[in-house]
Amino acid sequence: MNYSKKIVEVIIEESVPVAIVSVGRPDIYTDTLKAAGIKVLHAISTPRHGQKAEAAGVDAVICEGFEAGGHKGFTELTTLTLTPMVADAVDVPVIAGGGIGDARGVLAVMALGAEGVYMGTRFMVTRESDSHSRVKQAIAEIKDVRTVSVPKDYMLARDLINGFTKEYLNMRQAGASNSDLKAFLNGHSQYHSQHLGLADEAEICCGQVAGLINEVKSAGEVINEIAEIINEKFEALHQRLSVFL
Ligand SMILES: Cc1cc2nc3c(=O)[nH]c(=O)nc-3n(C[C@H](O)[C@H](O)[C@H](O)COP(=O)(O)O)c2cc1C
Repeated sequence: MNYSKKIVEVIIEESVPVAIVSVGRPDIYTDTLKAAGIKVLHAISTPRHGQKAEAAGVDAVICEGFEAGGHKGFTELTTLTLTPMVADAVDVPVIAGGGIGDARGVLAVMALGAEGVYMGTRFMVTRESDSHSRVKQAIAEIKDVRTVSVPKDYMLARDLINGFTKEYLNMRQAGASNSDLKAFLNGHSQYHSQHLGLADEAEICCGQVAGLINEVKSAGEVINEIAEIINEKFEALHQRLSVFL
């Protein structure tokens, strides 16, 4: 049995209420999950894929912009452009992900047509996250541009620039074979960074928003800070926009 099929079986068995499905066709698991009463959110990176997911019956789509950490499609649409395009293309709720780290990002994607937000890197750098403390520290220390888009044979990943990305990208440039690249990836995977703490030698997926994260906070603090200042940010925006009113 393949790995994703097994995961679907387990989440049905455990009555997980919401499933986020990504990297693949939306018609493979949607019916099975929905028949079990599970809400299905499908991650996409183009408006056309949003429409395909909607046609497959998903409850909402998550649009992941190019800024996002981790694995995504080969398109380079940013959250700023992708979110309104998807909001215009589908009727199901749109959740925006990629580059959101605080109340300003939440407000921005809501203005673009999102009904919810999806934040990965910010929560990875929280006390509750299972990421290794050296990984969290490496991200919290970033003050500027420190991520790079890394092509793999089946998709793009956005990673922290470190010894791993430099070596992997050099190998690709030098024409390394697919099997050599794969072996290198397997030997320097996120298991090695996130669990063993090899923050320079192994791959660390993280988004451009890393440059906004200065501190390892609790997940509750991240949420509360957004809730506390979003009104203030909204009022300030309203004032600025008053020239049009
Ligand atoms: C450590 C890490 C691993 C990720 N792995 C995957 C993955 O395997 N598949 C996937 O579809 N998205 C993956 N993502 C992307 C997230 O699901 C999410 O779209 C992204 O983190 C949102 O952008 P942000 O990091 O700017 O908040 C990963 C993100 C991070 C930070």
